[in-house]
Amino acid sequence: MFIRLPRKLFLFYVSVFYLIGIPVHAENNTAPTGSFKSKACMECHKKNNPLLIKDWRSSAHANTQPITDCVACHGKLHQAAASSSRRDSTCIRCHGGKKDPVVHSYTTSKHGVLMQLEKRSYDWNQPLADANYRAPGCSYCHMHKAGHNVSAGIRDDLMDKAAEKKVREQTRIACLDCHAPRYITRLFENGERMLEIGRKKVREARSLIEQSSVTFSDDELAPARAQLVKMQQHLTNVYLGVAHQSPDYQWWHGHPALDGDLLRIKGFIGELYRIKK
Ligand code: HEC
Ligand code: HEC
Ligand code: HEC
Ligand code: HEC
Ligand code: HEC
Repeated sequence: MFIRLPRKLFLFYVSVFYLIGIPVHAENNTAPTGSFKSKACMECHKKNNPLLIKDWRSSAHANTQPITDCVACHGKLHQAAASSSRRDSTCIRCHGGKKDPVVHSYTTSKHGVLMQLEKRSYDWNQPLADANYRAPGCSYCHMHKAGHNVSAGIRDDLMDKAAEKKVREQTRIACLDCHAPRYITRLFENGERMLEIGRKKVREARSLIEQSSVTFSDDELAPARAQLVKMQQHLTNVYLGVAHQSPDYQWWHGHPALDGDLLRIKGFIGELYRIKK
């Protein structure tokens, strides 16, 4: 049975369907196919999810040179946008490659090793939450539940003990998908203790150099200062070891390296005093 409706009233039907919520034009919630530039991605997605765009704008990615925009992670092709962005390779190629401490501290962690072994068997169409993946990759932790502000969970100042408090809750959320809260609390407490010991070593070296600057010239103290710069990187290694749960970074590239730096700085300065005498 087919009822013929007067065509003249087409616009009327359309408005009624709109009012009662039957989709007449599906464009607003059906994903398009084809290639787009970042400007188009933002304009369209701003309508459905303004928070996502706002979060991205608040992140360091909106201020990198060149800019880390939608296409940098998702590619131009809409059909593959989500699954491709979730893979570690998306992040690693920009974050210094496999040898960069940021990446290497992750690949030497248990998570990184599991990921390497299992990534081919994962279904990358699954959202990054609810333990959809057995081991977390870069985006599982840093873009958990599609949070586009990667800076929200990163502290600004490594030397500032209080800075960790600002990011702690944000950082924990992802861990709790897979680990018990008590385990994570204990782990973070130990991590902060380890970092604080690292900071003490850096502070000691700094004050030694400062005290000696009354007696010695900038030229004489240059080797000690150069070693202090290395110390900052080694403190970052401790931080990355704690952040990415890599024992190699906490121990091998972190604390023993800091101890070596401090010994050398003491050696340089001791030698200056000896020569002066
Ligand atoms: C004309 C509008 C429009 C444009 C342009 C557009 N999208 Fe989408 N996109 C949508 C809609 C609608 C959906 C489905 C609903 C949703 O997830 O918001 C979607 C879904 C997505 C998803 C989730 C897909 C999934 O499998 O869960 C991602 C990621 C995405 N878009 C990224 C992009 C990127 C990156 C660009 C630019 C290269 C882009 N979009 C351009 C409208 C658009
Ligand atoms: C640093 C890489 C990166 C950048 C830059 C980025 N995205 Fe994403 N985006 C991701 C990842 C990873 C996911 C998958 C998150 C998940 O599965 O929970 C995602 C998910 C999405 C989704 C699906 C949201 C949902 O709730 O499932 C949309 C839509 C989207 N991105 C749009 C954009 C747009 C538009 C831009 C540009 C403003 C952009 N993204 C920039 C990495 C990025
Ligand atoms: C197009 C290059 C590019 C891509 C792709 C990219 N990043 Fe970045 N990201 C950068 C740059 C550049 C910075 C700023 C300098 C830095 O911290 O290394 C940055 C910063 C960050 C920061 C530190 C934010 C802060 O406030 O200090 C995190 C965390 C991060 N990115 C995670 C990711 C993750 C996770 C992915 C993959 C989903 C990703 N990035 C993909 C280039 C990129
Ligand atoms: C298990 C979760 C997890 C995974 C997986 C992970 N990260 Fe991190 N990442 C962290 C935490 C936690 C921090 C430290 C946050 C803080 O306390 O400041 C961090 C710190 C960082 C920083 C800041 C470094 C700095 O010196 O400021 C960058 C950049 C980063 N991660 C990128 C990556 C990249 C790229 C990958 C993948 C190769 C990755 N992360 C994998 C949790 C993770
Ligand atoms: C998607 C699930 C998942 C997430 C999210 C996750 N982990 Fe894990 N984690 C695992 C798995 C699986 C293992 C390996 C367990 C095993 O078999 O020993 C593991 C191992 C570890 C280990 C090594 C334990 C050991 O005995 O060597 C530490 C430490 C750890 N995770 C800390 C964290 C922290 C901190 C976070 C959040 C920043 C986090 N994990 C997020 C799944 C996850």
